Amino acid sequence: MTSNEPSFKIDEIPIYGDLILAPMEGISDAPFRALTRHLGSALSVSEFINTLNLSHSKISVQNRLVFQDSERPFSIQLLDNDPVRMVEIAKMLYDTLQPDIFDVNMGCSSKNVNSRGAGAGLMRMPKLVARIFRGLSHTFDIPITGKLRLGDNEDNLNYMEIAHIIEENGGKMLALHGRTRQQAFKGQARWEPIAEVKAAVNIPVIGNGDVRSVADIASIKAQTGCDAVMIGRHAVQNPWIFSRLDRHEVQPQTVHALMRTQLQEMLAVHYEKGLRLFRKFARAYLSPYKLSRPVLVDLLTCEIVEEFSEQLDQVFKSL
Ligand SMILES: Cc1cc2nc3c(=O)[nH]c(=O)nc-3n(C[C@H](O)[C@H](O)[C@H](O)COP(=O)(O)O)c2cc1C
Repeated sequence: MTSNEPSFKIDEIPIYGDLILAPMEGISDAPFRALTRHLGSALSVSEFINTLNLSHSKISVQNRLVFQDSERPFSIQLLDNDPVRMVEIAKMLYDTLQPDIFDVNMGCSSKNVNSRGAGAGLMRMPKLVARIFRGLSHTFDIPITGKLRLGDNEDNLNYMEIAHIIEENGGKMLALHGRTRQQAFKGQARWEPIAEVKAAVNIPVIGNGDVRSVADIASIKAQTGCDAVMIGRHAVQNPWIFSRLDRHEVQPQTVHALMRTQLQEMLAVHYEKGLRLFRKFARAYLSPYKLSRPVLVDLLTCEIVEEFSEQLDQVFKSL
């Protein structure tokens, strides 16, 4: 987007752009968020901060709270189901980090989280969703937003009920992933429910699910009227989608430069774990080049940063 006008507002916060990197555990860390913001993603949302077992939170959770001021507006995503604990934790996070937004996770489909009625499991308890949104929105001046699915399963598609509850209890934006909890990531995401919700509420609606190309961005916007599009898995292979480029339009030297920068930034945030954590990105970035298996295996099992970088240089020279 080249316009100086915001695409939409989350309460009073202007959002410049209509593409947003989806929060993804193990993916949307500070370096990846920063680089996607640079390429055009309009908002940073943290990986979920699971406080169901607060006493068990470890360094990995704290790493999830690393962000740079240039990432603002920055949203911290809360994963919990206890309205009182959520307010307490959010107060602590607000005092130390001053995020711009708190987001409530109602989308996580993992068994462990769902069996405890958190993540997408929260959608089974609309009254609890209301209490969580009321509690947070009465406590904070910053916007509270929600990310949800279509419902628990095909027999319980209560996205419309939850969308209204979010709005009626002070929520200022919602993102809808067009699948049920039961579907997890299977099947094709449905976009019609996003259109239904957009037509029914007065807060911004973000469409999410299976956006894989610049053409998909146009389609989901045209079909749903959503205010912005959230892109998850495909962005791992093609973060340039936030600049509205399909992957085949991106030159190898551009890919190489981005990989080098991201690796350095991941080492700065994750220290000795940085290279291992970078592997899934490396695999995704290199996937269009159809490298031979031995070359790929050598690269992706390399444990030493300097050797990895040399091998990577060789790979790009060979293309
Ligand atoms: C590896 C992975 C981790 C995810 N972690 C989160 C998370 O922390 N919070 C969240 O709300 N959604 C999470 N999601 C869901 C995504 O935000 C998104 O809703 C989903 O992947 C659908 O979008 P896509 O088809 O563009 O990938 C995760 C998805 C993946 C694949």
